[in-house]
Amino acid sequence: MQNAPDTAPRAYLFVTTASRETPALLETARALAAELRCPLLPRHGGGVEALFAAHPARARAILVQTERLLLVDRGGQQFFAHPGMGYLRFRHVVDTGRDTLLDVSGAGAGDAVLDCTLGFASEATLFAHAVGESGLVDGVEAVPEVGVVVRAGLKSVQTKLPALNAAMRRVRVAYLGSHTDYLRDQPDNSYDIVYFDPFFETVLTQSESFAPLRSFGSHSPLTAETIRDAVRVARRCVVVKTTRWGDALESFGITERVESKNGRVAYGVIRK
Ligand SMILES: C[S@@+](CC[C@H](N)C(=O)[O-])C[C@H]1O[C@@H](n2cnc3c(N)ncnc32)[C@H](O)[C@@H]1O
Repeated sequence: MQNAPDTAPRAYLFVTTASRETPALLETARALAAELRCPLLPRHGGGVEALFAAHPARARAILVQTERLLLVDRGGQQFFAHPGMGYLRFRHVVDTGRDTLLDVSGAGAGDAVLDCTLGFASEATLFAHAVGESGLVDGVEAVPEVGVVVRAGLKSVQTKLPALNAAMRRVRVAYLGSHTDYLRDQPDNSYDIVYFDPFFETVLTQSESFAPLRSFGSHSPLTAETIRDAVRVARRCVVVKTTRWGDALESFGITERVESKNGRVAYGVIRK
């Protein structure tokens, strides 16, 4: 059974453009506002602060700029798409062919992967490299304004690594909403690998580039129901990233546990 689509307007969000609003930026902003079911508030040369002041219920805004989408909140925090620390990890995979997540999941050419917690899409991009052009990587992001910013970045961000650029272009943002809802509507055995990387309670990385995702992203915990559905949807395995010290995995009946090389994170695996 399909879920009833959520059609409520988003009262906390608006879309605007860079301060110099060109017809092209306005057109993109209009389409985005319609997709996100929130207003497009034209800048008319003024600051975003003035728009926040005039619309006190709206806490977040997406700015359509020439090169990218920028998500901001009324406190001045910013979120935009970039490979960040994912760049070094990707380069390591290109150089060595090795990565604990890819090894644990067994991702290979032609596989279909569902990344249930897309975030910056750095791990989805790693999967896209591993599965190649004959494979498929779908991502799900609970926070729609995060998802659309990352979706735009996957299409446009250029790095010095051609393989990374190509892998980013192959990641598809399949759903803006909770993975619980998305999984419920997927047929049995429809992806080879289903992956989760929820936020950890223990903050492992002090990376400044990761902090905005922590602030704008959803911290909803994984549930046993979601894991059960993921096992149904996965043909081969379900992988959940967790901290070395967490015991959440056991509560879902996950017993296989593989630590990353530096031991800072572990992957829990359910194989079918
Ligand atoms: C730790 S980050 C994932 C980082 C990601 N692996 C990467 O490579 O950038 C967790 C992400 O999952 C999203 N998220 C949390 N709960 C979710 C849910 N129920 N459904 C879909 N996405 C969710 C958060 O908004 C956040 O963007």
